[in-house]
Amino acid sequence: MYTLTKLTKTYRQGNRTVHALKNVDLTIAAGQHVAIQGPTGGGKSTLLQMLGGLDRPTSGTITIGADDLSQMPDARLAKIRAREIGFVFQGFNLIPTLTAQENVETALEPLGVTVEQRAKRATAALASVGLADRAGHLPSELSGGQQQRVAIARALVKEPDVLLADEPTGALDEETRDEILDILDGLRRDRGLTLIVVTHDSAVARRAERRLHIKAGTVTER
Ligand SMILES: Nc1ncnc2c1ncn2[C@@H]1O[C@H](COP(=O)(O)OP(=O)(O)OP(=O)(O)O)[C@@H](O)[C@H]1O
Ligand SMILES: [Mg+2]
Repeated sequence: MYTLTKLTKTYRQGNRTVHALKNVDLTIAAGQHVAIQGPTGGGKSTLLQMLGGLDRPTSGTITIGADDLSQMPDARLAKIRAREIGFVFQGFNLIPTLTAQENVETALEPLGVTVEQRAKRATAALASVGLADRAGHLPSELSGGQQQRVAIARALVKEPDVLLADEPTGALDEETRDEILDILDGLRRDRGLTLIVVTHDSAVARRAERRLHIKAGTVTER
């Protein structure tokens, strides 16, 4: 599903150039469950941003199916992001003025889903992460783990082909973490969801079929 060829991402920090990813060659098959590990600042979030089409590489190519994300016009890229890719960001990125239910519904807005269907699907997504009784609450009225589960529901509600998650279970207790991982495994089995998860938790990494390690912008298999 993904093919990365000589993918490099550099950032300017003042008058320094930081190489967040260096000549990464990588393929990820549809339906694969990949864990990404490595030290802080190693390039994990940068790699997820590239896979999600949130930012463009400095050089090299990244294709998803037949589409080259590095060359694609912005509007096309936005459409692929909205339909095919679910994101769970480091730090959740919930909208503070919207309830849990409304936060989840926002993911369906660009997809031409009716208001009624949006509400129904958001309710089901929140129930699937065990938050049916918190749907009407604002993020500030939820615990860290509950906010994290809202973010997961928001990523899953559009039934994406790919889920990109940055420490999706970092704020959860072991039991809730395992429940969420079971939900994700189920989606992979039933719908062929491709799961790419950044984690510092070795219990989360062990559940993946493939483990990648990123250090100083270089990716190795573990
Ligand atoms: N928007 C940005 N502007 C400038 N430098 C950036 C930007 N994003 C990341 N970097 C730099 O790129 C490198 C890789 O950062 P990245 O966020 O990918 O690391 P990470 O592996 O996700 O780390 P962590 O485990 O702390 O989340 C770091 O040196 C970081 O300072
Ligand atoms: Mg990161």
